[in-house]
Amino acid sequence: MVELRYQKISDAERFYEILNNPDFEFFEVHVDSVEEEREWLRKNSKKRKEGLEYNYAIIYEGEVVGACGIMIDQHREHIGEIGYFLDRSYWGYGITTKAVKKLEKIAFEELGLLRLQILMEPENIASVKVAEKCGYSEEGLMKKAYLRDDEYRDCLLYAKVRN
Ligand SMILES: CC(C)(COP(=O)(O)OP(=O)(O)OC[C@H]1O[C@@H](n2cnc3c(N)ncnc32)[C@H](O)[C@@H]1OP(=O)(O)O)[C@@H](O)C(=O)NCCC(=O)NCCS
Repeated sequence: MVELRYQKISDAERFYEILNNPDFEFFEVHVDSVEEEREWLRKNSKKRKEGLEYNYAIIYEGEVVGACGIMIDQHREHIGEIGYFLDRSYWGYGITTKAVKKLEKIAFEELGLLRLQILMEPENIASVKVAEKCGYSEEGLMKKAYLRDDEYRDCLLYAKVRN
């Protein structure tokens, strides 16, 4: 069973371990130490209160296996961007797809958002698949939208709207 819960500061070690996997080829986030991750997690509750970001741990069979979140567009507050990552050893079991479906329910039903976006590099097949399996539509290629390893890269825009 896949569940979401708010991230805790004590998730820092686990997230650091998950994020420092060489197979995270197309992911923008790099964390240099557990302390840096802890510092990031400390800001979560303030960001939530200010309506900036809603970040969750992905729990599978009681274990923390990854994370996902919604970042609110500060100029158009009805729009949220979804992001996610999962422990390498759990890839391919549909866990992220289930997590995104839960996240979407929070976004549309609790936060009242109207539009959700997922951005990824076209080569990030697993992420494209997650978006497609969750029913997001490809809306186009955003030129130089993603900064990774000091290079601006094109990325696909997937989106879903609430009617
Ligand atoms: C993206 C990510 C979260 C997906 O997690 P996951 O739980 O494995 O995703 P799911 O199992 O729900 O779905 C992935 C799908 O992609 C498929 N897939 C993965 N790599 C693939 C490849 N190279 N070619 C074809 N299909 C691929 C899987 O088989 C699965 O499809 P299926 O259910 O039809 O078999 C995980 O790969 C990850 O953490 N990557 C690193 C971080 C990252 O890139 N995050 C997204 C940034 S936009």
